[in-house]
Amino acid sequence: MNNKKKILVTGVAGFIGYHFVKKLLNLNYEVCGIDSINNYYSVKLKKDRLKNLFNLNKNFYFYKVNISNKKILRKIFNDFRPDIVVNLAAQAGVRDSLKYPEKYLKFNIIGFLNILELSKEFELDKLVYASTSSVYGLNKKLPYKVSDPVDHPKQFYAVTKRTNELMAHSWSNLYNVKTIGLRFFTVYGPWGRPDMALYNFVDNILRNIPIKLYNYGNHFRDFTYIDDIVEGIYLSMLYNMKKLNKNQITTDVSSKPFTLFNLGSGRKTSLKKFVKLIEFNLGKKAQIELLPLQLGDVVGTTANINKTKLELGYNPSTIPEEGIKKFIDWYKFYKKLDY
Ligand SMILES: NC(=O)c1ccc[n+]([C@@H]2O[C@H](COP(=O)([O-])OP(=O)(O)OC[C@H]3O[C@@H](n4cnc5c(N)ncnc54)[C@H](O)[C@@H]3O)[C@@H](O)[C@H]2O)c1
Repeated sequence: MNNKKKILVTGVAGFIGYHFVKKLLNLNYEVCGIDSINNYYSVKLKKDRLKNLFNLNKNFYFYKVNISNKKILRKIFNDFRPDIVVNLAAQAGVRDSLKYPEKYLKFNIIGFLNILELSKEFELDKLVYASTSSVYGLNKKLPYKVSDPVDHPKQFYAVTKRTNELMAHSWSNLYNVKTIGLRFFTVYGPWGRPDMALYNFVDNILRNIPIKLYNYGNHFRDFTYIDDIVEGIYLSMLYNMKKLNKNQITTDVSSKPFTLFNLGSGRKTSLKKFVKLIEFNLGKKAQIELLPLQLGDVVGTTANINKTKLELGYNPSTIPEEGIKKFIDWYKFYKKLDY
């Protein structure tokens, strides 16, 4: 036992949840993890991440639960009595939200409603939750600033995440639930998601399958390395919300305990450069298929992280040259590749 805060993390078998909980367990926090372990991508990868967490230490409890099930969720809150909740569980991915909007509604909105209601009922110290750069949607002005208007989402995934932010605002105002929303920008790194570009490109190049570059390869992203994201979530978890009113530098309209941060690298990298770095690290050329822009896709993202730096002391440090190498080293180790 220790006198540190008790942390409940949802989406713990996911890419970001896994890395975040690994940090918490290494720092000796007591952590309760929740995940539905859905089959959106490899269940084996999710179970392997969980296995690693169980091997770390004994302060980790896990429940295979969908956050849209309020009854079971309440029992877990009641038994564990968390001080802080970090909600990372969601149906991620932009493209599937065009095909299966009902799933996004249930997991991302009903699920989050349950998290908010229980945060109120159990009087948490704080709720930190995942949002996304996708909320900036059709905005033209770059880099995206957290105080920019975000009224023009491109797809339903972004709508569900923006809805989460608005719900958090309302629960903060009505019930004083202390909420911090984090807008993540294209996260990459070891143990990453097979549905995202880096994993998919490396996998295809090694198997001599052409990689698809939409918008004829003219995309750019603020690629953010997983360790920087984990540090940003951790700093949010420690952030003293009382500072908000004194140190407000955004146009957050309320004086209630609600705020949002961009978690990006603040750097813009073209997809073409990203592919070149992958080729360099693999020592192999990609076969490239150039295709038009996909429905719902955003052409480019870059984060303005001034507020995050000033208020949280966030200082992302990993450049794509290092991060891509770390991913490829992990990929070869995980797939037991010997080259
Ligand atoms: N990875 C990124 O680049 C990125 C960018 C922006 C926002 N986000 C957000 O960050 C969070 C974590 O993303 P990730 O990349 O780790 O995704 P992920 O898919 O790897 O992890 C999400 C986990 O949540 C679980 N889950 C989904 N719906 C659930 C539900 N209703 N109840 C319980 N568990 C559920 C899934 O099984 C999965 O293991 C998500 O909310 C995502 O929308 C991620």
